Amino acid sequence: MKRAIGVIDSGVGGLTVVSELMRQLPKEKLIYVGDTARCPYGPRSKEEVQQFTWEMVDFLLEKDIKMLVVACNTATAFTLDSLKKHLSIPVIGVIQPGARAAIKFTKNNCIGIIGTEGTIRSHAYTDALKNIKAELDIYAKACPMFVPMVEQGIMEGPKAIQVVKEALLPMMKQKQMDTLILGCTHYPLLKSTIQSVVGTNVTLISSSEETARETSTILEMQHLLNHTEVFPIHQFYTTGDLEMFMQISERIFKERNLQMITIKKAV
Ligand code: SIN
Repeated sequence: MKRAIGVIDSGVGGLTVVSELMRQLPKEKLIYVGDTARCPYGPRSKEEVQQFTWEMVDFLLEKDIKMLVVACNTATAFTLDSLKKHLSIPVIGVIQPGARAAIKFTKNNCIGIIGTEGTIRSHAYTDALKNIKAELDIYAKACPMFVPMVEQGIMEGPKAIQVVKEALLPMMKQKQMDTLILGCTHYPLLKSTIQSVVGTNVTLISSSEETARETSTILEMQHLLNHTEVFPIHQFYTTGDLEMFMQISERIFKERNLQMITIKKAV
């Protein structure tokens, strides 16, 4: 089962999921596509997000992937059902795993969700949370400024703090939430900034860990795990600026051997 796991995202944010997949499944080869040229997906229509997502999926299907991880929350919200219906390989999104993790951590049952306009508008997180636990108090907010900032490589420092404060402080004053879901794959890259703004009493949930765990479970159950002893060479594709993509990848994978990684421009 040497075939790769395909991972798609609207840009660089999904690399946080890749990093966790590499940690939990070191023998699995990954092929990543980040649609950086058309990022952000958050403000786009459902139809547009579905079309772009399917383009990335078709690109990966030609590479004979054995499983698909939709690392983008917006793409998960709008396209997961149709992908699951039409693909014969296992498909996983990031919303269910994120919702499950938040419910595990909350003590006062008050959960905040931040995400793109598309994800928040879809109510996908609220529905996922309420389906598991009906009595939750949920507060959801779109943060449209975060993704463009991360794609520009701004994740810490005065500018990042100011943007995060403006978006989150009013919300934190309104609700006593003890758990905040980072409902966009770009947001874990802002984690230290967000934590400094919301305070250490609030647990930040990024779905990467949980998504990687579920990926592992699915591969095991379907006898798709790679048992060979050879460590894989991963492939990274971006539709956008290669230089910026490589700079951000280097930050995320700083402790890893970057020679494992080939970054090419996706068609
Ligand atoms: C975006 O493309 O707007 C953000 C990606 C996400 O929703 O996770």
